[in-house]
Amino acid sequence: MFPARRGIYLVSLIQAALCAVQFQHPNDLPGVQYDFVVVGGGNAGAVVATRLGGNRDFKVLVIEAGPSNDAVFATQVPGLAQNVSGLPLVEWNYTTVAQTHAGGKADAYGRAMLLGGCTSHNELVYTRGSRDDYDRWASVVGDENLSWDKLLPYILKAEKWSSPNDPNLSEEGHFDPSVHGLDGKLQTSAPYNPHPLNDLLLETTKELSDEFPFLLDLNDGRPIGIGWQQNTIGKGVRSSSATGYLSSTGDNVHVLLNTRVTRILPTTYGGTDIRTVEFATDPKGPTYNSTATKEVIISGGVINTPQILLNSGIGPKEELAAVGIASIVDNPGIGKNFSDQSAISTLFSTNLPSDAFDQTAALAEWSKSHTGRLADPPHMSSLGWVRLPADANPFKDGSPDPTGGPNSPHVELFFYNVRPPPDGVDNGPGNTSLLTIVVNLNPVSRGSITLAPGSSPFDAPVIDPNLLASPLDTAILLEGIRSAQRLFSSKAFSGRMFGTALPPSNATDAAVVDFIQQNTTPFLHGVGSCGMGPRNANWGAVDPDFKVKGAKGLRIVDASIFPYVTSGHTQAAVYAIAEWASEIIKESWNQ
Ligand SMILES: Cc1cc2nc3c(=O)[nH]c(=O)nc-3n(C[C@H](O)[C@H](O)[C@H](O)COP(=O)(O)OP(=O)(O)OC[C@H]3O[C@@H](n4cnc5c(N)ncnc54)[C@H](O)[C@@H]3O)c2cc1C
Ligand SMILES: *[C@@H]1O[C@H](CO)[C@@H](O)[C@H](O)[C@H]1NC(C)=O
Ligand SMILES: *[C@@H]1O[C@H](CO)[C@@H](O)[C@H](O)[C@H]1NC(C)=O
Ligand SMILES: *[C@@H]1O[C@H](CO)[C@@H](O)[C@H](O)[C@H]1NC(C)=O
Ligand SMILES: *[C@@H]1O[C@H](CO)[C@@H](O)[C@H](O)[C@H]1NC(C)=O
Ligand SMILES: *[C@@H]1O[C@H](CO)[C@@H](O)[C@H](O)[C@H]1NC(C)=O
Ligand SMILES: *[C@@H]1O[C@H](CO)[C@@H](O)[C@H](O)[C@H]1NC(C)=O
Ligand SMILES: *[C@@H]1O[C@H](CO)[C@@H](O)[C@H](O)[C@H]1NC(C)=O
Ligand SMILES: *[C@@H]1O[C@H](CO)[C@@H](O)[C@H](O)[C@H]1NC(C)=O
Repeated sequence: MFPARRGIYLVSLIQAALCAVQFQHPNDLPGVQYDFVVVGGGNAGAVVATRLGGNRDFKVLVIEAGPSNDAVFATQVPGLAQNVSGLPLVEWNYTTVAQTHAGGKADAYGRAMLLGGCTSHNELVYTRGSRDDYDRWASVVGDENLSWDKLLPYILKAEKWSSPNDPNLSEEGHFDPSVHGLDGKLQTSAPYNPHPLNDLLLETTKELSDEFPFLLDLNDGRPIGIGWQQNTIGKGVRSSSATGYLSSTGDNVHVLLNTRVTRILPTTYGGTDIRTVEFATDPKGPTYNSTATKEVIISGGVINTPQILLNSGIGPKEELAAVGIASIVDNPGIGKNFSDQSAISTLFSTNLPSDAFDQTAALAEWSKSHTGRLADPPHMSSLGWVRLPADANPFKDGSPDPTGGPNSPHVELFFYNVRPPPDGVDNGPGNTSLLTIVVNLNPVSRGSITLAPGSSPFDAPVIDPNLLASPLDTAILLEGIRSAQRLFSSKAFSGRMFGTALPPSNATDAAVVDFIQQNTTPFLHGVGSCGMGPRNANWGAVDPDFKVKGAKGLRIVDASIFPYVTSGHTQAAVYAIAEWASEIIKESWNQ
């Protein structure tokens, strides 16, 4: 009716018809000069490419090692998360080096190799962490823009709250609508599995409210207590950076799949202007290259970003010399300060009903209506967050508080579906074991990502989270296990918990510490391997504007830049910093 409106309507129709153009092989690429090349189409990379591509004048190329998420059906189905993360074909198949302080064992270190990165295979938990986490980032790197108050608009910009599909499972009272975004590209919701554990935990929040208060919304900036999960799920379907972001771009965003970035190269001989990206599809095949006219953004994730930079001669000079790589930029922060949350799995024997369900029927239901057990993630629907008091055992020796501040939990309790008891635990017929993962959210230990001598860009780097190197990390896990034992000894759980538990509730501290040291694993929330530091400081891999120190034309945007991990699962924070980085990259080109 109104010509102006009609114009807008037509434009939006045209935009809706477009989406990122995918190429399966470097030979298929059109001969386009790109303004930006984004290395890795994962969590952060897909966000940055989409936001830069929001300017239709920018031509953006994303290079992703894996296939499209569309090629893997299970990426869509929340309850099949583990069917994706267990698929070797879309996995980097990484293993850590032997963890000397954690039983001497080498642990699997899952990382997704497909479009959307870890957001296409993760367990869909949506947690922002605490406001202190971001305020600590801001103070450590000397840039207010990273504080909670300044980043919150970008957290909200990413998010689109979107209810679950099942009208029988009301979300009311499970979250606080006032702290959520409604217009973003990443869909979130609070679906749940109606299992009796939910109510028992809620009853316990009344009974043991000092240690386990009820938490209405774990994303309000102060995640302490027990509350309902929120997930990156919209209407029963996984929402990822691939489905939410890349699927909404114009055809000025190109995605090259199945292609490994091997190195980044100086654009002029001997220079530090590094805008040329080298890539290949197999170790023996030809290499290709593309030079961005504006910038290269590395978003390969916490393991691969430092690997790509080190292979390119960007990193600690002496260390690179020792593995035979010529130094281009001496940047001592690349590959250092890698850390991950340490996690210990405990078992509690219960007489709660089994949560086993008919997979075939559930898949049929999901396919029909996006409801049922496969419309929510493969774990229980509550989460526990415990802040230890200042006089708790771990701090009695004067150890400083490892969290960002008083709004931050030290420990997470992550409950897995009640399952038949594992071998060696006999609960009697019909009884089940409740797997509770106790997580030390703010580890003090620091490890590294380095290159093995003589390795090629197609080989895995050396991955060392150095779990439990600091005794404080072990002490916090011990206290976390004691906390879980207190939780399950509430009146609400009496008559529900019995028999054997791992570790047993009467185990001495020394025995529990031994259990921790033998069985702790990384929680797969690695950060820090290209950590951000203050401008002009002699440490830190990148400046607060995400630019690689010592190089031009090169930024890093992914979990590797986090100076400290957030006190929670990491994807929400990756979305937030990717939104913020996109903003300042666009600004720097005056757009
Ligand atoms: C099994 C598992 C479960 C998890 N569950 C949760 C959860 O429930 N909630 C949560 O918040 N967090 C979870 N996480 C963590 C979270 O998903 C990650 O921290 C976050 O998504 C990482 O984002 P990123 O952008 O740094 O890296 P990624 O998402 O890993 O993206 C990196 C991308 O770069 C590509 N790439 C790497 N190297 C190259 C190369 N050389 N050439 C081309 N492409 C390359 C990769 O294939 C990948 O697509 C989980 C992680 C794992 C592994
Ligand atoms: C997913 O994995 C489970 C457990 O291994 C298996 O029972 C189920 O059949 C798988 N589902 C699909 C659709 O692959
Ligand atoms: C992971 O292992 C599978 C099966 O062995 C293999 O097909 C795949 O190529 C491996 N991935 C990488 C990145 O090496
Ligand atoms: C909701 O509950 C009703 C009554 O129990 C049931 O018939 C219906 O199938 C349920 N809907 C869904 C989507 O599960
Ligand atoms: C990039 O590729 C072109 C053509 O294949 C080649 O001539 C050029 O030397 C390469 N540049 C670099 C920096 O490798
Ligand atoms: C690791 O981070 C700390 C700050 O948390 C910093 O002081 C130190 O220099 C960093 N190490 C390296 C090698 O960059
Ligand atoms: C579970 O085990 C307890 C203790 O052995 C027993 O009393 C109870 O009957 C068992 N429950 C079921 C359902 O078998
Ligand atoms: C713990 O309790 C079990 C069973 O009651 C008992 O066999 C064991 O000796 C106790 N262990 C300790 C360290 O007290
Ligand atoms: C951060 O914020 C300050 C003050 O608002 C601003 O001057 C500065 O340029 C910002 N930094 C970046 C990298 O945008």
